Formats: sequence, structure tokens, C-alpha cells
Amino acid sequence: MSAWCSRPPQELAAWQRLGSLAQRRIDTALAAADTRRFGRFSQRLGPLFVDYSKQRIDQDIRDALVELARQSGVEQAIDALFAGRPVNDTEGRAALHTELRGAPDECRPEVRRARERFLRFAEQVRRGEYRGINGRRIETVIHIGIGGSHLGPELATQALAHSSAAPAIRFLANVDGHAAASAFAGLDPATTLVTIASKSFTTLETRINAETTCSWFLERTCDRAAIARHFVALTANTAAARQFGVTAENCFPLWDWVGGRYSLWSAVGLPVAIAIGSEEFEELLAGARSVDAHFRSAPLPNNLPVLLALLQIWNANFHGAATHAVLAYDRRLRRLPDYLQQLEMESNGKSTRRDGERAATHTAPVVWGGEETNGQHAFHQLLHQGTRAYSADVIACIEPRHRLRDHHAWLLANCLAQSQAMMEGRNADEPHRDVAGHHPSTTILLDELTPASLGALLALYEHKVFCAAAIWQINPFDQFGVELGKELAAPLFEQIGGDANPPAEHVSTSGLVETIRRRRHR
Ligand code: F6P
Repeated sequence: MSAWCSRPPQELAAWQRLGSLAQRRIDTALAAADTRRFGRFSQRLGPLFVDYSKQRIDQDIRDALVELARQSGVEQAIDALFAGRPVNDTEGRAALHTELRGAPDECRPEVRRARERFLRFAEQVRRGEYRGINGRRIETVIHIGIGGSHLGPELATQALAHSSAAPAIRFLANVDGHAAASAFAGLDPATTLVTIASKSFTTLETRINAETTCSWFLERTCDRAAIARHFVALTANTAAARQFGVTAENCFPLWDWVGGRYSLWSAVGLPVAIAIGSEEFEELLAGARSVDAHFRSAPLPNNLPVLLALLQIWNANFHGAATHAVLAYDRRLRRLPDYLQQLEMESNGKSTRRDGERAATHTAPVVWGGEETNGQHAFHQLLHQGTRAYSADVIACIEPRHRLRDHHAWLLANCLAQSQAMMEGRNADEPHRDVAGHHPSTTILLDELTPASLGALLALYEHKVFCAAAIWQINPFDQFGVELGKELAAPLFEQIGGDANPPAEHVSTSGLVETIRRRRHR
């Protein structure tokens, strides 16, 4: 059990006070008209502007929430994180993703050396100095990896890549053969570099996709020696990567103290660096680093990751918001909901506290979302007139990268209109047109989408997740829940391809295996 653990959250005096404050109805119409509210409940953090004045809080509630953070030992938890103490206590490890983005003169020498190496390699690929077989320039990178080895790199590449001169990056994550087929479509292996990202180098999907990609490559080149030139590994398990055929030179390390979903800042970010260049990748790290500094030093009442975690707890535990929508009003951020889904749900989707007892409070809500304004013509109906409680984050960039000013003004207008409608609703004479409102949201505006602002945004969320976990007293850095499904899949793979049946007591599964087999063997 960690030193900063206090009593279970529901036993803390602040939790109980919040229970009674939750009865207080924040009149959203009055709140909307309170001109000081915006100044009081919004805050700038470098390139980010965070407005939480559309949350159901007043000054007393915010004070009580901050007191909850204090009583939960959030300050001690932050110290423990940055001191490299084993905050991942179920696995006895530190969680030092902040070290990965440390300033070159402050971070560990092995981190600095590894960063220099993968950034140098990225530049060589970008500039065409690193050549494939036949001396051809690398035109496309296939990045193989799943979960944290995929979502961060894809999000950052889609958000930031804008030079058509850089190699194109394709992502191959799941084990569906359709995904592999479309990753290879139209590619010439002689101009393709394959980056295999896997902290463990044992993940089934990644292993199968890497093997299939290798076969695709060999069938076309008939040159086994060329694997050494065209395959690169980003991994903590160098031995397995070497065994796969990657040269020592092309293995870029990460370490067991980096959680997969926190690994974008390591060599796992190589495809991003190839797409945007080493200078911009350094800016991404610097953006995240500036939020680390804020998180480490800002007092709790102004500490934005802490406040966002408290708002999540306020909504999820005191107002029954079982789901949290991430509404990204920027096409370049279309992967953000998926990225945050892993970050929040794999980190905090737990029901056992650090002390080994079952959690008596809810933990992470279901995180979901979409690319706007598409969602407005689809699921927003439920957001405005459905029966369920939810909370939302609305994210937009003030300056776009294109010159279509009206498009962008419309996009922003829609973004603001939605959160206003969610909060204020509308009293209509006709019941079917009534919009109840009272749904809380936080709006995060990026001045513009740059490596620094993206780095800041992602670090803000990482630390938010850490604080929420500290308050719920769960470990955000393990993910034992994903193991059962992996274990069950192995025998089922054999059963689908063979004659053995799953144990009869699994009636539904054995029926489905039988149905699949009958059709496959026709
Ligand atoms: O199975 C879950 C998980 O371990 C994630 O936490 C991780 O991001 C993903 O699989 C991929 O793991 P690896 O990088 O080891 O292939």
C-alpha cells in the first residue's frame, strides 16, 4: 500500500461534505448570467485555455473538491510520481513517463541517449539519407503496434503531420486481415520501412501483424538480408526483437517504468518524429514538460490536472454521470476520443483499491466521443434530450491551419452552441421540444494545434487521470483486466481451426465455434 493512501474516499470528511453539496442545485441560467463566473472558473495554461464555468459548481463546491484532493493525499502522490517511487504498486514499478520528456540536461543519461538516437534516425529517414534496398528512398512507414503503441503515435501524426515531403505513415494495429491488406495496398516494399512498436514484444496482434508484414516483404523482395534494413523495433524487449530479425542498430529502447499508454514520448513516437521532424518532436516533449512543471508546483486550487480530476469525480460520483463524452471539434484531433478512452479506461477502469479492498465508489466513467460536427447530426440528440446523466469535454483550436475562415468560424460557433445548449437547455411550450440542460462540460481551447499545444493537452489528461486514481485510491498503471480475454483466445484459436470443442459448459461459446466451423469447412 502506498504511503500517501488515506482512508477509503467515501470515509473522508470532504467526500461526505460533497455528498451534501450535491443536493445544491446550481441554477444554470443564473450561473450563465453571472459575469464573474467565467473569470473565476477558467484558467490559461500556456497554449491551452480551460473553461470549466459550465460545470455544476460554485465557490463552496470547488473549495470542497480541492479539500477532497488534499485529504486524499494528492500532493504526496504527485511528489511520489516525480520522485520515481513505485506508484505502480501492484507491479512494484515507478511510472516515469515524465522523465521521457525531461529537458536534455535534466533527464537520465540513458533516456537522453535513446532520444538522440531515435531522433537522429528519424531525420535520416525523413531526409532520404537512410535508404532501403536498391538504394531507394523510404516513402512510406508502416507502423505496427496496438493500444499505447498505436493510439498516441496515430493521434500525434494525424494532428501534426503537414509536410507532403515526409514519408507517409500508415498504422496497422488490430489483427483483422483487412487491416493488414489495406496497410500494404499499393506499397513497394523497397521504399517501405516497418516500425514495430511493442513494449513487451509479445502482444499477439503485433506479433502476427509483424510476421505477416515480414512475409509480404519477403514474397516481393526475395531478400532475407533486407529485413535488417527495413524493419525497426521500438521495445523494452530487445532480445525478442533481435530474435525476430531486427538488428541491434535498429532496436530503439524503452523501459519497464513506462506504461504502454504513456509511451508516446519515448521511441514509440518514432513514426511521429519521421512525420514531423526531430525539432517539432522536441517541441511536443517541451509542451508536455511545461504541464509537468505546472502539475508539480501549482497549488491545488489552481492545479489544472487536479481540478479536472475533481470535476470528473464530482460528475461521476456525485451526479451519476456514468459516461464522459470527448467532443473534438477539429478533424486533426479525430483520434483523441480513442486515445483518451485507453488513457482513462485502461488506467482507471478498476474496482480494487490499492489496499486490496473492493472499491465502494464508482471509478472511471465510460469515455467515448466523436469527431464533430458529425456527432451533432447523430448522437447529440441523446445529449440534449436523452434520460442519462453524462459529462463532456469539448476541445477546439482557435486558429486553424487552413485559410477557410468561415468554415472555422462555423466550426467554433457549433462547438460553443453545443456546450451552451447542454448547460442551459431551453424551456419550450411544447414538451417534445423541451431541452432540460444542466449537463456539465469543460471546454479546452488550444490557441492553435502545434506540437507544443498537443504535448500540453496530452500531459494535462495524463496527470488528470493520475489524480483521479489517487482520489479513488486505485493504481492507474496496471491493466490486469485485459489478461483474461487474452488467455481465453488462445484455445479458441485452436478450436476454430481444429476439431476440439470448447468445454460444453460454455454453451454460447461452443455453439458459436460450431457455427463458425460449419461455415468455414463448407
Ligand atoms: O493488453 C493491453 C496492453 O498491454 C496495453 O496496455 C498496451 O498499450 C498494449 O497492450 C500493447 O502492448 P505492447 O506495447 O507491449 O505491445
